[in-house]
Amino acid sequence: MSRGDSLIISKSKIKPEYREVFLTVNHFHEEPNYWDLSSLTNWFDPSNPTNQIDETVLKFLDDEGYDYSKNQIEYWFQHMHPGRELAPHCDYNHKIREFNPDDGGEWIHQANKDEVMSPITIAIFLELTDLEGGEFAISRHTWFDEPRPLWLDDDTRARIHDAGKELYKPADDDVIYFEGSKYYHWIEPLTKGERKSMNVNFWPRDYFIINT
Ligand SMILES: [Fe+2]
Repeated sequence: MSRGDSLIISKSKIKPEYREVFLTVNHFHEEPNYWDLSSLTNWFDPSNPTNQIDETVLKFLDDEGYDYSKNQIEYWFQHMHPGRELAPHCDYNHKIREFNPDDGGEWIHQANKDEVMSPITIAIFLELTDLEGGEFAISRHTWFDEPRPLWLDDDTRARIHDAGKELYKPADDDVIYFEGSKYYHWIEPLTKGERKSMNVNFWPRDYFIINT
């Protein structure tokens, strides 16, 4: 599904008027708690947007020509400063974590992938100020190759490293599409400046039926 040899499937630009709406949000998270993802994500059904941010997400996706009609939409914002990074991970239906926070995720190998994976992840770079570091990084290693997909230990880190990575240095208004529910990805440490971005994923409407 990748374009050529790149793990960045597609690239685009966000319209300035949408970017300005997204920059009005007041919930950029300095230190997101990944053990309680419901505290930092926003979910809505595209048939029922409830605020201007939801509506702007839909306008953006319509412009992009992305068919979200069968999914719920999740989006969240990141605001990163020097010293911050984001560890390697794969995006998964966050309801998974709520079943058992200590779960290593061995059962995921038997899961219906459509229920636990987003078909695509969209990253939108809203505002980059004097940024050094903070590149988006994606590995060719997938979480379905991992014996304990929900657990990032030294062995997993080594396998991610050995698989090779692709680095993407973002620019303002950049939009990238990648398989965030398949390939490990992360944010390299920031050494200078600030980095505001948002991400969008798409989950099945019936996500509560996941059977662990
Ligand atoms: Fe992610």
